[in-house]
Amino acid sequence: MTTQTRPLQSAHDASSPTIERTEPIEPRVVAEALSERLFDGALATLELATIHLGLRLGLYETIQRLGSVTFGRLAAELDSDERYVREWLEQQAVAELLVCPNPDATPEERRYELPDATAMVLLETATPAYLGPVSHLAVGALLAVPAVEEAFRTGGGVPFHAYGSDLRQGLGQLNGATFDRAIAGWIAAMPDIDRRLRTVRGGAILDVGCGVGRSTLALARAFPTTTVHGIDLDVASVEEARAAAAGAGLEDRVTFSVDDAADLASDANGRYDLVTILEALHDMGDPIGALTATRRQLRVGGAVLIADQLTRDRYAADGDPMERFQYGCSVLHCLPATRAEQHVVANGTVIRASTVATWAREAGFGPPRVLDIEDPFWRFYRL
Ligand SMILES: C[S@@+](CC[C@H](N)C(=O)[O-])C[C@H]1O[C@@H](n2cnc3c(N)ncnc32)[C@H](O)[C@@H]1O
Repeated sequence: MTTQTRPLQSAHDASSPTIERTEPIEPRVVAEALSERLFDGALATLELATIHLGLRLGLYETIQRLGSVTFGRLAAELDSDERYVREWLEQQAVAELLVCPNPDATPEERRYELPDATAMVLLETATPAYLGPVSHLAVGALLAVPAVEEAFRTGGGVPFHAYGSDLRQGLGQLNGATFDRAIAGWIAAMPDIDRRLRTVRGGAILDVGCGVGRSTLALARAFPTTTVHGIDLDVASVEEARAAAAGAGLEDRVTFSVDDAADLASDANGRYDLVTILEALHDMGDPIGALTATRRQLRVGGAVLIADQLTRDRYAADGDPMERFQYGCSVLHCLPATRAEQHVVANGTVIRASTVATWAREAGFGPPRVLDIEDPFWRFYRL
């Protein structure tokens, strides 16, 4: 048995406290626990990928619609290969994502059902428990791992589009459900802006880093007399956003363009009452340039609303699950994607409140006000 004293201090954050661990740790015990953790991680990764398949192929939705299925019935309904569908159903029930009430029956006669809890998490976009599209995010991030490996060697970047439709659409679905549910409440936390957008004729919103446009559409629905313009660097995202606006019949009030936030032209009078940057500031290669440019877009009395990661105040290497998730996203996606831009800052997911305050000051804003909005993932700043 050895006694390890591990100073857990960030290499790049000298202000972090040094945490001393003096309890005895037997390396074998730690190794066994770590080994178990790796197994659990591999299991979770594989099961996430099968959830991704089930959502993409409409398997869960079809089971929900039919109530109870055999593999033959489900495969016929979806015009899919029986053997694949059988294996997937068996796997999903073993993973306790589906229920199999007659496991002792022959494979042909076994029935599978979708429990309410699985339906809530994977299909019901209006419930706070909804998280199914996180499976698409994970698959999208993993698809780009070879390119990230190369970027480690070369110092290059991996452009957003290299992560493909899974990541792009997964983000849109995951965040879109939140926007539909909550965006009006976020704006209501800025009563002057809310009032202005509801009462002033010709109210206008700019949605920066709009992705596939789910926030842009949610804003337009929440404020029926405003126009909303979304910009994003990613061409495929903007194309999908335009199609979504047309599909929703909102194209008269909702427009999109492919633009770099940092290159938005100055407008002496300002054009917008509100600029939103929703889960996008940490993805930008020039966040200070982007904030400076958006400040110049504001009408007098307008505001910028930033929603970004709910990070802790300082770095601590203590296994916090949320920071582990954020750093995982950062290593695999956000940092490589920002480095693929004409980057000024090598940005990343773990954006702390102090960083936002520094960037805001450098962009010419006063100190950001953190809004009193409860959210498990994001913090909200008003500039
Ligand atoms: C995490 S996604 C969020 C998308 C959307 N706001 C949402 O929440 O669904 C970040 C978005 O920022 C966009 N982005 C990154 N850098 C940008 C830049 N410099 N200018 C405009 N958009 C940018 C990316 O293309 C991506 O669509």
